[in-house]
Amino acid sequence: MSWTGTEIIKKRYNRYSKFYDIFELPMETFFSKFRPDLVRYAEGNVLEIGVGTGKNLEYYPDDIQVTAIDLSPGMLSKAKKKFPNKKNITFLEMDIQSTTFEDNVFDTIIGSFVFCSVPDPVKGLNELRRICKPGGKIYLLEHVRSNKKIIGPILDLFNPIPVKLFGFNINRNTTNNIKEAGFVNIVEKIYWSDILKMYIITNIK
Ligand SMILES: C[S@@+](CC[C@H](N)C(=O)[O-])C[C@H]1O[C@@H](n2cnc3c(N)ncnc32)[C@H](O)[C@@H]1O
Repeated sequence: MSWTGTEIIKKRYNRYSKFYDIFELPMETFFSKFRPDLVRYAEGNVLEIGVGTGKNLEYYPDDIQVTAIDLSPGMLSKAKKKFPNKKNITFLEMDIQSTTFEDNVFDTIIGSFVFCSVPDPVKGLNELRRICKPGGKIYLLEHVRSNKKIIGPILDLFNPIPVKLFGFNINRNTTNNIKEAGFVNIVEKIYWSDILKMYIITNIK
């Protein structure tokens, strides 16, 4: 089993789930302002992937049905505990690389900081295309590898640390992964430098 395989990443997030919210607090003071901007696109039958401890969930209106999945039962249980009374949210333990959903089910797929962690991101993105309706839309808030001369290699150098400790990469080329998965209509909304952005993917099929 490789050190970035699915079972390993699941174990790391189960471990990380115990202190995820506390550890991420400094980053979250910055990230939190982008979450409402992501969730406001939710319409129709919504899937949130890699929901984690549920940081986006407070922004969904009560009349939107959300299926929230995560690979890690530890992360998922934190989210469930935070929102015991949100009747419009269904939590499921599921791997985005191979879900049990039918084809063409979701109108909107939302994820924040997920494809930094999915062991095989192109496989996960292909699965999104399969389960998203042809007219559906995918919105991904992601931190990615910088293409800047000095910062990019620094992120490469330090990448093994967060992967081994927590389960996420800081040097994913998510733009390339999205293209490799066959998506063509991709808009990038830049939030910070060339590192923090939202991908808006349309014309899914
Ligand atoms: C960095 S956390 C982000 C959590 C949350 N979306 C947020 O914004 O705080 C990445 C999440 O993706 C989940 N994840 C990683 N690989 C996954 C996979 N293959 N399928 C589903 N979830 C996955 C992890 O368990 C973790 O909860």
